[in-house]
Order: sequence, then structure tokens, then C-alpha cells
Amino acid sequence: MNIQKAAGTFFRVLGVSLLRKSYPLLVNIRVTNRCNHECIYCNVPHRQCDELSESEIYSVIDMIEHQCVFINLYGGEPLVRNDIGNIIDYISKKNGIFLSLSSNGTLVPDRISELEKLNLLLLSLDGPPAVHDKHKGQGSYDHVMKAIACARARNIPVVVMTAISRYNIRHFDHILEKAREMDFNVVFQPVISGAQDNSEAYPPIEEFHALVARMIKTKEPRLSSMSKKTLQYYLKWPHHVEDEIDCLVERISCFLDADGSLFPCTSLCDIDYGSNIRREPVNSIRPCGINRAFRNLSKTHCNQCWAVDSVEINKNPFLLSALKRLILKKV
Ligand SMILES: C[S@@+](CC[C@H](N)C(=O)[O-])C[C@H]1O[C@@H](n2cnc3c(N)ncnc32)[C@H](O)[C@@H]1O
Repeated sequence: MNIQKAAGTFFRVLGVSLLRKSYPLLVNIRVTNRCNHECIYCNVPHRQCDELSESEIYSVIDMIEHQCVFINLYGGEPLVRNDIGNIIDYISKKNGIFLSLSSNGTLVPDRISELEKLNLLLLSLDGPPAVHDKHKGQGSYDHVMKAIACARARNIPVVVMTAISRYNIRHFDHILEKAREMDFNVVFQPVISGAQDNSEAYPPIEEFHALVARMIKTKEPRLSSMSKKTLQYYLKWPHHVEDEIDCLVERISCFLDADGSLFPCTSLCDIDYGSNIRREPVNSIRPCGINRAFRNLSKTHCNQCWAVDSVEINKNPFLLSALKRLILKKV
């Protein structure tokens, strides 16, 4: 990150923290809804749409590059896009943007050379073979293991994301064992509803709390990408429902859907916020395109939160620790 961008970021963080301003510092781009898996808890592949083209994604990147410090490419499965290597390449040439991509791993070995410019590869691992495959489809455990090995062999940092359900909650230690053996960090979040009814898969709350309590007690080093405050939040989740969360996520980040619509948070993607970058002029006076769509987003009114990245941001309200980790690439 050059000095100009670092200074701009510093003042934006101050603006967010002290003056309650909003900037899209962290942008998640759902590059496709298409997926080569059918996970039991995910409804994204059922939301077919006319997805953003490569050049539309480039114009989004051009519009946010001065203020954005973090981009995550996710889906669906981002690697089903033939042009994903070009998109990674394009973003990696921009100044001071930490780039990550979320994948189920299946196509990672075939496309590993296109992923080398990532700062972080987020892979989903939900347990030992039988439970992982129950979540994500026959044979998917072997694929994600190959993906982890392949990425680590090329020195690409890997963080594994585990969705905790009633089926894998007793198998979390398997993931930690693999993390020690193969050198990656782990973050987890409870399985919770997408739009489809997947309530059968929800983890039993007492067992979920017991797992979190054990992780806090053992100070599990492989969970160091989750702050203690986040773990303590999950220790009570979702019982301590507040009236309304004063949500920082909506002020510093946004989620761009595959069809160009914008929403404030991953858990709110089925609500129409009436904000779509395709409807915003891109060549007029600023703010334009995604920046204007971002300003048009209305406030969320959540009273609890389950998504680990959002909890992490809200539990580190001055952003400094989160940004420090992002900027110093300490994942
Ligand atoms: C939507 S997926 C997209 C990236 C990629 N296809 C993958 O499988 O990792 C990103 C992450 O969200 C998690 N996820 C999806 N639906 C979820 C739900 N209903 N509850 C909790 N986590 C969920 C997945 O387990 C995965 O780790």
C-alpha cells in the first residue's frame, strides 16, 4: 500500500469511527451464483441470474480501488467462471487491496496457477469425509484436501471456513488436527438459514455453546483468526438479542450480488435493497456506480448476527485490529 492510500485509509477509518461516516472499505463480490456443489444449507445456486461480465467487474474495481482495502471474491463457486484468473490478475495489480477468494476447492488443483496472486484462499472444510460429503456432496472431502495441499505447496495462505451444523458439531477436532498437520487457520460459524428451510441442519444451541467454551478454554492457536471477543459473542449466541445492533458492517462494507445488486451484509442477500450498480450511471460526476449504490443502501435493523466476518467486524469496533491484520496480511 503506498503512502497516499495508507493516509486516505487512515482518515476514512477515523471518519467511520469518530464521525459515523460510511465507505466501502471491504467489498465482497459474488462473481457467480453457479456452483458445482449442492450444499445442504446453501440456497445460492438456486438464485440463477444474468451475472456481471468481466468488464462490468473491472469497472466496479476501478470505481472502488482508491478507498477499498479488501476484496473477497465468492459465489456460488467463483472457479466455475472461466475468466476468474483474469479477474484475480486485474485486482492484484491495484494498489493496497488485500484479495481473497472463497472456494469449495474442487477446481483449485486444476487452476492453481491462476490463484497464486491471492493474498488468501478461503476453503470450506466441514469435517471428516462422511460429514463433509453429507454437507457438500460425494467426493468433496477428497477434493478440498487436495486443494489445501496444493495451495500450501505454493505458499498460498489458506484459512478454512467451517459451517457448524448438527451433523459435524462433534467432529470439529478433525478440522483442528488437519489444520496443525497442513498449516492453516480455521474460522467457523453456525449453519443458519439461507432462504430455503434448512432448520434441520442447525446446530443444537447447547452443544454449540459447549464447543465455543472449549475453544476459548484451550486457547486453540489454529483459531487465532477469530478474536476472543467473537468467540465470547458466540458463547451466548443467539440468546442475548439486543434491540438493534449498531452495525459497523453496513458502514464499511457491502456485498455485490452476481446480478449487480448491492446489499449490506451476507445474511441479508435475499432482501431487495433497490440498489443495483447496473442502474447507476458510471460516467457521470462522482459518486457514481457502486459508490452511489452503496450510499443508497438503507440501514439494516438486525438484532443478532451469525456470520463470522460480520461478528468479527462488529466486535472490533475501531477497526484497527481488523485493518491491521488485513493490511499486514496477517490472516
Ligand atoms: C456461500 S459459500 C461460497 C464459496 C464456495 N462455493 C464454498 O463452498 O466455500 C461461502 C461459505 O458460506 C458458508 N455457508 C453457506 N451457506 C451457509 C449457511 N446457511 N449457514 C452457514 N454458513 C453457510 C459455506 O459453508 C462456505 O464456507
